[in-house]
Amino acid sequence: MVKLSNEMKEDFAKMKVFPFATASKGGEPNVVPIGICKLQEDGETIWIADNYFYKTRQNLEENPRGAIYVWGPEVKGCYQIKGDFEVKTEGEAYEKMYKMVKSIGERFPAKALVIMKITDVYECKSGAEAGKKIL
Ligand SMILES: Cc1cc2nc3c(=O)[nH]c(=O)nc-3n(C[C@H](O)[C@H](O)[C@H](O)COP(=O)(O)O)c2cc1C
Repeated sequence: MVKLSNEMKEDFAKMKVFPFATASKGGEPNVVPIGICKLQEDGETIWIADNYFYKTRQNLEENPRGAIYVWGPEVKGCYQIKGDFEVKTEGEAYEKMYKMVKSIGERFPAKALVIMKITDVYECKSGAEAGKKIL
């Protein structure tokens, strides 16, 4: 697995909404905005709340790979982050996420915890290094 650098962690913390891309087993692409997306202490695991996923959830079940990117007006770098996914609907980690989501808003269903293990990070700022693998 791959750990984000301190600089990447600082940029990650500034993000309000992340684009989250998945694909079906047959390669049909899908991208959605996600707000509840938290980098864990280890720097290599991301927790995402499944409140309203539909195609995203189907995709993760048949093809557990996906990507987000970190970029915004306040963010210095631009990082494309890819990873392996696991979906949990019970257990200690799910319960912890459920409480966290309910503390943000009682209206959120917190249907599942989507765990992303970071496998690759690519540069996505424009310039000579654009597209290159950095971690
Ligand atoms: C700003 C914004 C933030 C969102 N955050 C989340 C989120 O954290 N979790 C979630 O399940 N859905 C979230 N959604 C809803 C999803 O983007 C999307 O509507 C849902 O996954 C259904 O699309 P799908 O069929 O492609 O999965 C958010 C939507 C918006 C507009």
